[in-house]
Amino acid sequence: MEKHSRRNMLKVGGALGALGALTIATPAQAVPWTWSAAGSVAGTGAGTDPKWVWDEVADPLVASLLDRGDVPRVNELLRGWTTNGQALPAGLPADLRDFIETARRLPSWANQAKLDTALDFYKKRGTYLGVLYGLASGMMSTAIPHEARAVYYSKGGADMKDRIKKTARLGYDIGTANAFNPNGQMIVTCVKTRLVHAAVRHLLPQSPGWDGAADEQIPISQADMMVTWHSLATTVMQKLGVWKVPVTSAHSAAYLHVWQLSAHMLGIKDEYIPASWAEADAQAKQVLDPILAPTPEGINLAKILLNLGAEIDGGLLTPNLLGAFTRYTLGDRIADWLRIPREVLWDPAFAVFWPAFIAAKEFSLAFPGTPELWWTFDELLRQAVTLFLSGGQQFSIEIPTGNRP
Ligand code: HEM
Repeated sequence: MEKHSRRNMLKVGGALGALGALTIATPAQAVPWTWSAAGSVAGTGAGTDPKWVWDEVADPLVASLLDRGDVPRVNELLRGWTTNGQALPAGLPADLRDFIETARRLPSWANQAKLDTALDFYKKRGTYLGVLYGLASGMMSTAIPHEARAVYYSKGGADMKDRIKKTARLGYDIGTANAFNPNGQMIVTCVKTRLVHAAVRHLLPQSPGWDGAADEQIPISQADMMVTWHSLATTVMQKLGVWKVPVTSAHSAAYLHVWQLSAHMLGIKDEYIPASWAEADAQAKQVLDPILAPTPEGINLAKILLNLGAEIDGGLLTPNLLGAFTRYTLGDRIADWLRIPREVLWDPAFAVFWPAFIAAKEFSLAFPGTPELWWTFDELLRQAVTLFLSGGQQFSIEIPTGNRP
């Protein structure tokens, strides 16, 4: 089936059912979907390959809002909707209001005790999470072809600084007290992001740049969503393990829960959300590891990301330092794909001294490196948190009405 006729089907009838979609050629890099829904939070499911599932409720709704020209007014109204328990502003189109009222409800499996424990985890490990979201997940996203192309050709791709701040909003909100409670903001952020993704599914296929580069007809499938989820949650958890940061089993379970809940609120179906870290690792091996690859768009975005740090006061986060940290956390393969230069000084410094730095911090051990190196590592943590976690809270997430100009 040709790209544009599929897009029209999405427009008129919501996301395609699995049956029709199976007639489309499988993307080159895809591996067969065998992950069982028995390992999901739902515990059961139809087993449909998530590459052919999008968001059958939000997609036709937002496509219709865009076609009706309602989005600028909706964005203006939704700017005032900021906390989870807040009533929706008057004047929203009735279909959107109905959607949000349903989408904002937490699933029955939300667990307040785990959310409280997750907050404790964030308090204790927030600095590591900040640097990992920004530099492990953020840089990895540029080596995820579907995401790199979607970001590059969407409206936000033209101003990465602004986009990072908006995306950081989620990283910030997820770690706040009461994130999912009535006076928190995470539900609002997730529901708005769900609307943004639905808009992107409608808009990107109209971008000649995206259309020419992409190997898919409609962006941001449920599989893509899980890929990004793993680049965030699973990767961060794995890296904490590699760094030998002590994480209690209660913290580990609570951190997983926060991300499961976020996935649900972003519109990911429960049958695709892993029920345990072991299931997450297994799913990531299937959906994330095989699809990582360089693209011209990703290389371009990686360069922009590495240069963003230099704008922080003090200028410590140079592209060289951030590049070396990326090479250390994501490995040579990804760093070489992203054309990150080798650093004579910093590459060995991270390889030799970062584990000792973490051990010294965590276990009050003596640091074998110099005080200057300790200071640099410590500032890297602190400034990365400033860059990636605390800048986002004042930005409102808005539904785009166009692509990158
Ligand atoms: C927008 C988070 C998955 C592509 C956003 C925003 C957030 C976010 C917070 C709003 C910020 C903004 O407006 O710039 C997430 C999370 C995901 C996820 C937590 C998964 C767990 C994906 C995937 C893709 C994608 C899989 C593409 C394959 C985009 C694009 C935008 C966006 C293109 C809009 C940028 C624009 O303003 O033009 N996402 N996202 N996202 N996301 Fe995602």
